[in-house]
Amino acid sequence: MASFDASRLILGVETSCDETAAAVVEGGNRILSSVVASQVDVHHPYGGVVPELAARKHIEAIFPTVHGAIERAGISPEDLYGVAATRGPGLIGALLVGFSFAKSYAYARNLPFIGVNHLEGHIGSVFLSDDPPDFPFAALLASGGHTGIYKVSGHTQFQLLGQTRDDAAGEAYDKVAKMLGLGYPGGRIIDELARKGDPEKIRFPRIYLDREKFDFSFSGLKTAVGRYIGANEKDLEDQIPDIAAGFQEAVVDVLTEKILLGAQKSGCRHLAIVGGVAANGRLRERVTEAARKQGIGVHIPPISLCGDNAAMIAGAGYHRLEKGERDSLASDVYSRAM
Ligand code: KG4
Ligand code: ZN
Repeated sequence: MASFDASRLILGVETSCDETAAAVVEGGNRILSSVVASQVDVHHPYGGVVPELAARKHIEAIFPTVHGAIERAGISPEDLYGVAATRGPGLIGALLVGFSFAKSYAYARNLPFIGVNHLEGHIGSVFLSDDPPDFPFAALLASGGHTGIYKVSGHTQFQLLGQTRDDAAGEAYDKVAKMLGLGYPGGRIIDELARKGDPEKIRFPRIYLDREKFDFSFSGLKTAVGRYIGANEKDLEDQIPDIAAGFQEAVVDVLTEKILLGAQKSGCRHLAIVGGVAANGRLRERVTEAARKQGIGVHIPPISLCGDNAAMIAGAGYHRLEKGERDSLASDVYSRAM
């Protein structure tokens, strides 16, 4: 059995959307176990996450998922130093399942408890990789619910530099996939289809807004793709790979320009890409290439840590608990970014 330092072991729990996840992490960066029970098959027929169904599925999965994480870590609950759970943002009914379970778990074992912001968890996921960045670094967080550029100066110190004015990048992927009849979640499907298409064939708009600032927009791009689909219904099937590639190139152009601008303007020599969309092959490739040209170090977690997982929640929770922060058992979840 692997050795561990029990004074630094955190149990993390994540149920903000459609993954029931639990993990045990040591010292904020060493993963002993990370279990993710996905509900993708449950929501697939609806083309998106159905909140009520998500909450019910979390209730079914939470107990075996947490126990699976403890077992796979090769520890016993008595070895834990603390418990962390996602507090928000996310779907209220879904969040409540993991948050309440984690609070009860901590109470029953007399362990300190901390609620973790989901976005802070995603940003911290880069510390679980083999190649974490030095502070300060610029981070592009691109997920299904949020897409923003941050300056990160410490484990609990973030400054939002700019963000999407409307759709998150993952949301745009999911909506375009739905328009093309490709199913949910759309990001990975479009990523794969785009490899077979020509990114230059159909040029969709890039909405950078002010080129010197960090905000951007994806709703015009989504509308343009919708219009193109409407005007080409007859031979749509053959064009799907080119539409996927053209759409993806537009998203990646905007995100690449904004994260590099973020790094330059905030004086960071390192940048990170995190969140579900950080799994995107083209985004990883383009940001890496552009940053290398400017001598900026690029840090991207492995694909297994880009999407929702509880290791990132345990990692972020560790740093909060280390600072002496605690949340009471009366604390509640929140749905919107704070
Ligand atoms: O971070 P995440 O798992 O959940 C949220 O916090 O939202 O992100 C999920 C989003 C979905 O919109 C999904 O379509 C997108 O990440 N995604 C991708 C890829 N894999 C997942 N988008 C583009 N390319 C991918 N390979
Ligand atoms: Zn997420």
